[in-house]
Amino acid sequence: MSEESMQQLIETAKSARLRSIAPFSNFLVGAAVKTSEGKVYIGCNVESASYGLTVCAERVALWKALSEGERQFTELAIVADTESLTPPCGTCRQIIWEFAKNATIVLGNLHGETQIVSIRELLPRAFDARFLSGTAKGPAKEPSKETS
Ligand code: THU
Repeated sequence: MSEESMQQLIETAKSARLRSIAPFSNFLVGAAVKTSEGKVYIGCNVESASYGLTVCAERVALWKALSEGERQFTELAIVADTESLTPPCGTCRQIIWEFAKNATIVLGNLHGETQIVSIRELLPRAFDARFLSGTAKGPAKEPSKETS
């Protein structure tokens, strides 16, 4: 990913952040996900008065893209107004792993600081459909420590 394309996607996520509906946390987050064909889908966090129904910016962007038929993602930018760059929450990490594993993730803040991270480092030893189908190849099983 070129520096210019990364900056552009960060700017898009920054604009998306301004659409956040976050009256309870006042924590505004923007996301922008780019497809392999160069199309960009944006998302912002949308909070519910029933707090647990809140959806993060990253998932809004991904649900929009996936529901439009997109399946291949190359980059995902996430912007929040924090000194220490805000990473995706645990739920979003799972969804990124399942649907945008190969995307380069760029975190950004409003001071222009950025950092590239990968979902492999954010979510090591992830659970996914391979476990459901029995095709997961993980580390060798530890001998059982159970005693009967
Ligand atoms: N939030 C996101 O949108 N993305 C993140 O990566 C972290 C958290 C939102 C959810 C909620 O609306 C607010 O930030 C505070 O948790």
